[in-house]
Amino acid sequence: MARLDVTETFHHISFPGHIHTQDSLNYALHFQFQDRDTVIATYPKSGTTWMQEIVTLVKNRGDPQLSKTVPNWARAPWLEQHYSAKVLEATQGHRILTTHLPYNLLASVIYVARNPKDVAVSYYHFHKMAKLVDTNDLYLEHFWDLILLYGSWFDHVKGWTSQAGVLANVLYISYEEMWLDLQGSMERISSFLQCPLVGEELTNSLRHCSFSSMSDNAMVNYTQIPKEIMDHSKGKFMRKGIIGDWRNTFTEKQIGIFDTVYSYQMKDCPLTFMWECP
Ligand code: A3P
Repeated sequence: MARLDVTETFHHISFPGHIHTQDSLNYALHFQFQDRDTVIATYPKSGTTWMQEIVTLVKNRGDPQLSKTVPNWARAPWLEQHYSAKVLEATQGHRILTTHLPYNLLASVIYVARNPKDVAVSYYHFHKMAKLVDTNDLYLEHFWDLILLYGSWFDHVKGWTSQAGVLANVLYISYEEMWLDLQGSMERISSFLQCPLVGEELTNSLRHCSFSSMSDNAMVNYTQIPKEIMDHSKGKFMRKGIIGDWRNTFTEKQIGIFDTVYSYQMKDCPLTFMWECP
């Protein structure tokens, strides 16, 4: 296995080297999508795992069998990671694909965005347990740059949202919308996937996508990842699962700088996000 602290640079973006290679990133870039594919696209720490769980449950009409027995990376593989070609060869029927890549992909896409201040906090804690690169303190101090592994948060979100009305089939949703109204979000997602859930299908899906259920589900909580990759004594992947944790983390000064950078960077963004509303 490649060293954990090594990054792989591809199209000027850094990726964690232990799960990405030039071949795997090229594979993702030239991937042949099929009409029935569903793609979950996110910047890291924005609710990827949550959406993988929701889509798995929607596609299985609320039956948790798959989500309790198959790890998330095997049922909704990250296109750009080194194992995905093998996993996808063995997959039949509708595929759920996940990606942290920029937007130049074509398929049915669910794009999840999260308040970048909470992304920064979540990423910071994640870096403490996941031995990817040692950027912890450095980036928290200057977190407004938001250029982390997988590139710039701003470029990612602006890139994907620029595709609203260009790509035929994209659903934009935020972590905050899911958090404030999981049922309404689940109804929206299942309609988008042309698989509207009714009755128990919906209640079961909601139960299995709750923070507490997912925290207990070894197929998504990453507790099975060896400690050489994730040091479970340093924290939990399913950490807090809340909105607004940034308020407990950043100083007034940091927030002031962040807000200035944010307004400048996002002035042309075509979508308005929930966290921008006072
Ligand atoms: P926190 O670190 O703020 O708790 P990703 O899967 O994109 O890496 O995102 C991980 C973040 O999503 C973590 O945030 C994790 O706790 C949160 N998350 C995962 N499942 C969730 C759920 N069911 N409800 C709320 N938050 C969830």
